[in-house]
Amino acid sequence: MSKRIIVLSEDIANKIAAGEVVERPASIVKELLENAIDAGATDIRVVLEKGGTQSIRVTDNGSGIDHDDVPLVFERHATSKIHQFEDIFNVVSFGFRGEAMPSIASVARVEMLTRRNNDVSGTRAILDGGVIRSMDPAGTPEGTQVSVSGIFAHVPARRKFLKTEATEQGACLDVITRLALAHPEIRFKVEANGKEIFAAPEVHDTAKRIAMVMGGEFSAHCMAVDAQQDAMTLKGFISRPEYSKSNSKSIYLFVNKRFIRDTSLTHAVLSAYRQIIESRRYPAATLFLEVPPEDVDVNVHPAKMEVRFKNAHGVYELVSKTIAHHLSRAETSRGHYLYRLAPAEKKDYFYRQPFVNEPSPSMPSRPADRSHAQQGIQNILLHRSQVSQPPAASEGDAGVPDKTILFGDMRYVGQYDGTYLLFEGPDSLILLDQHAAHERII
Ligand SMILES: Nc1ncnc2c1ncn2[C@@H]1O[C@H](COP(=O)(O)OP(=O)(O)OP(=O)(O)O)[C@@H](O)[C@H]1O
Ligand SMILES: [Mg+2]
Repeated sequence: MSKRIIVLSEDIANKIAAGEVVERPASIVKELLENAIDAGATDIRVVLEKGGTQSIRVTDNGSGIDHDDVPLVFERHATSKIHQFEDIFNVVSFGFRGEAMPSIASVARVEMLTRRNNDVSGTRAILDGGVIRSMDPAGTPEGTQVSVSGIFAHVPARRKFLKTEATEQGACLDVITRLALAHPEIRFKVEANGKEIFAAPEVHDTAKRIAMVMGGEFSAHCMAVDAQQDAMTLKGFISRPEYSKSNSKSIYLFVNKRFIRDTSLTHAVLSAYRQIIESRRYPAATLFLEVPPEDVDVNVHPAKMEVRFKNAHGVYELVSKTIAHHLSRAETSRGHYLYRLAPAEKKDYFYRQPFVNEPSPSMPSRPADRSHAQQGIQNILLHRSQVSQPPAASEGDAGVPDKTILFGDMRYVGQYDGTYLLFEGPDSLILLDQHAAHERII
């Protein structure tokens, strides 16, 4: 972004979600990285000392800043990203408030080194407590480097709330991970206390970046989703039924490449899985929703992690139905399909898909039977996007790729579609793919 910086009028500034964004080192990392990405950087390096509580340095190879504009960077409501309020509804950059750099500078010591690609010389600016102490021409590579130290030195109340260095470093890494997931074309390197702790070379394929960041376990147990509805698209990767986590932290939702927290969309994801994974287990997912910018309001909260959709219901439906649809076709690593049906929904299921109660059938059945059975299950899943409250997220984080089901207290009910054996338990209904089971026994 090589546009010049302007100070927004008071009227515009008043319409922008106001508030503090610098709560902890991770907030600083987030704002500096977002600025680097907005500046078109393809290579971003982060250096953290003591989990970011002592110092943070972010270096990018982006557009750089004009020497005369450097003082404006640290002025409130000064931005190069919007010029009038309406631009907010078309904004493709992370930033638009012109608030982050002055907020950071007001609680720390900041040194900025910057040079635009065609400028012979760059600029070094040093600020303390939000005031520019010096600003001089300086030789520096193309791009921008911001070093922040003495974080909250003059705000003891906030310093007191910082957690351990390890926790703060973890929070910084979470921020970097989310941005790295959405930007495979950018190279990220993170160093903490002199050691490299994260590296993601640039790749052209989101799947490769996701594998790098989410790890091999997820890659081995995930599947791609891809759907479109009107002007919205949903792409990404979701965990297969046999892979689950003990909390919902591995569900990453992005709207137009911006990581968001959205209870309703998380609920949409969980609702689709509710049929097939145990309660208190959670899926992992990296989902990228692309929505026309005018259909999503990012000016809800200063941290911009919350958004408001024009068609919230449509977005919910797209997410839950797409996932349910893909899951209904998922074969677990053990080669059979397992669907847990909640007790309240049994009646509904029996009503729609009556089955014959008869002894075990002969094998094998025709492939068409299997796809018919799958279609039946898919319909059931797709008809049940309305679910109750999502389970509360819990701590801990172990992947459980395999799970044992005890059939001791199960009652054999019958067979469905020549393929599935149905067992009824005190609070669940199990469908067992008898062909896969047969193969396993042999
Ligand atoms: N790394 C960078 N490279 C190039 N320009 C930058 C960089 N960091 C900041 N700037 C310039 O400084 C301006 C102010 O940055 P700041 O982060 O305060 O505001 P913003 O990004 O416009 O909005 P927001 O407060 O929502 O982040 C930006 O609009 C941009 O022009
Ligand atoms: Mg910014």
